[in-house]
Amino acid sequence: MFRFRNEKNSYELRMTDIHCHVLPGVDDGSEDMDESLEMLRIAEKSGIDRMILTPHYKASHHNASPETLRKRMEELQSEAAEEGIEVELALGNEVMYFSELGERYDEGKILTLNGTDRLLVEFHPTADYMYVRNAIDDVIGMGFTPILAHVERVECMVADPERVYELRSMGCEIQMNAADYMGVMGRNVRKFLQELLDEEAIDYLGTDAHDCRKRIPDVRKCLSDLYDRYDDEYVMQIAYKNADTIFEHKRVRGSETDEQSE
Ligand SMILES: [Fe+2]
Repeated sequence: MFRFRNEKNSYELRMTDIHCHVLPGVDDGSEDMDESLEMLRIAEKSGIDRMILTPHYKASHHNASPETLRKRMEELQSEAAEEGIEVELALGNEVMYFSELGERYDEGKILTLNGTDRLLVEFHPTADYMYVRNAIDDVIGMGFTPILAHVERVECMVADPERVYELRSMGCEIQMNAADYMGVMGRNVRKFLQELLDEEAIDYLGTDAHDCRKRIPDVRKCLSDLYDRYDDEYVMQIAYKNADTIFEHKRVRGSETDEQSE
């Protein structure tokens, strides 16, 4: 494992990404296999050695079936191996919340993260807080542990961090995008994320990478900055420890105990 030194200390350049659009030709992320391979090269250089691929699932869209996604992931994993890229892949969806989500899941059309109870859920940026809160309650009632995707992109959350704490107290987990932490969404959003980090109210760092030009999976500066400002153990948790439990264990929906995956 690489160790890097920033102003404060040396730290592990390592991350497990739970949110990215690296799978080719299935959503608004990577367009083709070449772009996906380039994204994996960027990720690997940046210390990312595991990625959960999370193509969008939106009720209003035509969504690729889990079988198609799985087949394409296997192709990508084997092409990556041929290129000597050592990034381990798993599969999930980023689901835009909708009221028939439970039915679609039961029909086998929606994927949780790596077959666990974790469901990556996104909301429209202008969604109303009561809508978000009721939706999270609904998802928890279905037996999932929701992970709120890029909390900083939901305006009602940025307007009042107390709402983040409320969702967490209900059992929701929180993901932030590395690029947004680095200021892509402006100073106000960065300040909001810093406040959440001070309270250790972020559970996962994600790239939400979409391509190899603008929204790229490069987290080097972000990790350096995080290790500079926050407790090392906490940064390791959000960079890879929490995500590794999703990679290595199966918490099946509705079960109380962790089950080791094969
Ligand atoms: Fe995304």
